[in-house]
Amino acid sequence: MNLLFKNGTVINANGRSVSDVAVDGGRIIAVGKNIEPGEQTKIIDASGLLVLPGAVDVHTHFELSFGDAFCSADDFFTGTRAAACGGVTSVIDFVTPEVDEDLVSALRKRREQADNKVCIDYGLHMGIVGVNERTFEEMQAVMALGVRGFKVFTTYAFKLSDKEFRRTLSFAKDLGAVVMVHAEDHEMLEANRAKFIAEGKTDPWYHYLSRPEEVEAKAVKYVIEAAKETGATVYIVHLACAEGLRAVEAAQAEGYPIFAETCPQYLHFTCDVYKRPDARNFVCSPPIKGEESRRVLWEAVTTPALCATPPRRGITASGRGISSLATDHCPFNSIDKDYGKDDFTMIPNGVMGVENFYPYMLSEANKGRLSFERVVELCSYNPARIFGLSAKGEIAPGVDADIVLYDMSKDFIISQKNMHSAVNYTIWEGVNLKGYPIATYSRGNLIFENGVFCGEAGDGGYTAV
Ligand code: URP
Ligand code: ZN
Ligand code: ZN
Repeated sequence: MNLLFKNGTVINANGRSVSDVAVDGGRIIAVGKNIEPGEQTKIIDASGLLVLPGAVDVHTHFELSFGDAFCSADDFFTGTRAAACGGVTSVIDFVTPEVDEDLVSALRKRREQADNKVCIDYGLHMGIVGVNERTFEEMQAVMALGVRGFKVFTTYAFKLSDKEFRRTLSFAKDLGAVVMVHAEDHEMLEANRAKFIAEGKTDPWYHYLSRPEEVEAKAVKYVIEAAKETGATVYIVHLACAEGLRAVEAAQAEGYPIFAETCPQYLHFTCDVYKRPDARNFVCSPPIKGEESRRVLWEAVTTPALCATPPRRGITASGRGISSLATDHCPFNSIDKDYGKDDFTMIPNGVMGVENFYPYMLSEANKGRLSFERVVELCSYNPARIFGLSAKGEIAPGVDADIVLYDMSKDFIISQKNMHSAVNYTIWEGVNLKGYPIATYSRGNLIFENGVFCGEAGDGGYTAV
């Protein structure tokens, strides 16, 4: 046994206990009382601390090109370094193939970008930007290489036609894959944008007004109808509006396998941020919505843990309401955001969050808003299960030793100065947290301790499901 965490409060999605956690060869080998160390065992006194599974952020965009001009600020090194320092021990990023590019070669190219840089484990979802006679076989081929999620858009230049979307859903249903959907109604938002620009309404407030609640809700309903017809498992990414959530919940109540993710930026802020002087830093799509959506999203997030049975590898994650949290981490440096200071349509879309989402949600639990178990379910257990990461998401024998030690009494004020991303500001500046992670272990290796990153590029690996 290499490591023994003594007397910590172990939190899983389905409960907690004061226990020891023994680690060997990068895996948890035992959880229980009074575990005896071996001669070589390093003992870590975890008394008074929470022992949590590392978070699993299934929605990041490291090294993402936005149009021809911009690239997101974090590469796979700085992005996973920031993740590690926020208690995230796995990320799943995306491959965006060129139109007509073979999906297997697109996956290989993306792995070449990432493999030597990542400091935590990572996986990849595959974008579907067009459908042809090879798509089914190529989806099957990349699944054999570890892909579980296929991402499609109902807007942007690479949106799928209705026919392509339904074919993708049918393929995914046959293959047992998950289709992730960015849901915003393209025609509505394009008409709004054109109208505002023609009227000279160019500040970021019109980013929100061109993509308001109904633009997202309409697309979510369209996606759900298509999912029902095909029976495919659908995962709506970055859900940000109350009406969309209601539609998801109604479909879930009918028994359809629909999952929904939301992000901390939709829980903490409202569309009022688009009236601030630094509004362009908050420009992301879908935009942050009004107070009613924020309230309803929080209501779903705080609904008590839904795991009726103890977590076991292989069981389905709970699919009611909001099933998971992720960050959609996609920050652009100020110089890039400034490009759109006179025209909101030119602002590269995306905000930061990979270092903030677990500490933020844990702090909300520490303040009493929801349980720590529910935070683990939303940020670690459910995303790991939905995307087939069977060795992640819990503190249990046989699972990877991806462990976070959390000090409930440590106060923390988020500032760009104490973050580990490459981006030169943070939308989370000045937010007060109650409690903070003090150590992160990735497969038993210490990679973050007391505010300092101590891992290395290449420490992480590609996790095939
Ligand atoms: O604004 C966002 N969310 N940018 C990242 C790409 C996407 O749509 O998820
Ligand atoms: Zn998106
Ligand atoms: Zn995204």
